[in-house]
Amino acid sequence: MKIILLGPPGAGKGTQAKSISEKYCIPHISTGDIFRKNISEKTSLGVKAKEYMDKGLLVPDELTIDLVKDRLSKEDCKNGFLLDGFPRTVKQAEALDLFLKSNDEVIDTALLIEVPRELILERMTGRRVCQLCGASYHVKFNPPKNEGICDKCQSNLVQRKDDNEKTVKDRLDVYDNQTQPLIEYYKSRNVLSTVDGTLAIDKVFEDISSILGER
Ligand code: AP5
Ligand code: MG
Ligand code: ZN
Repeated sequence: MKIILLGPPGAGKGTQAKSISEKYCIPHISTGDIFRKNISEKTSLGVKAKEYMDKGLLVPDELTIDLVKDRLSKEDCKNGFLLDGFPRTVKQAEALDLFLKSNDEVIDTALLIEVPRELILERMTGRRVCQLCGASYHVKFNPPKNEGICDKCQSNLVQRKDDNEKTVKDRLDVYDNQTQPLIEYYKSRNVLSTVDGTLAIDKVFEDISSILGER
């Protein structure tokens, strides 16, 4: 099962990805999480990526594509994978298709989580993420059992640096200009499915499960 998650910042990609990855036993690969890990470890990739991420801009394709190809070549991706936050440009989508084609593979489903722009700002400014496992919470919509502590691994929750009002607006513009065209890209390949991301987290997951099928 090879799945791509599409949708604007704050649509709930990371939130749903955790559940999908558990249910279907495929690795959750988030380019955003990989970059953030590199930033916290101060690697050279992290130093480069930070410059763009802090401004809400996309990290250049040259840095992103090879990283994903490397990750997809790992043993745990043999039976499929769930990509969250990649591809984000047509160039990335084409590179991914080419890479899969060399192994006679294709993307099975591109899942678009739709959420209108008006709802996004509140989601982002109230988001808290686990420093260790990347789980996403929300102070109002999905609070952890103990304030500031991850339910899954008991690590501290923090606010992402790019979750302030100004940067969120810039990220939404970047999404409209550079990532939105992927909806048409996957529609024309007959693999696009859409879910209503404004529903409650559990309901969105039910809808996703009915698209992906029971296993
Ligand atoms: P990335 O980390 O991918 O961020 P993003 O796409 O902007 O998406 P988010 O992680 O902000 O949102 P999400 O959809 O995962 O929402 P979540 O589930 O957390 O990328 C960050 C940066 O890295 C980019 O700006 C770029 O610089 C760089 N980058 C990454 N990939 C790249 C690539 N391929 N190419 C180039 N650059 C790249 O949910 C959000 C909040 O809403 C949470 O608080 C959650 O609890 C809450 N919530 C979720 N679902 C619901 C619901 N149904 N109802 C109510 N609240 C909900
Ligand atoms: Mg995310
Ligand atoms: Zn955690």
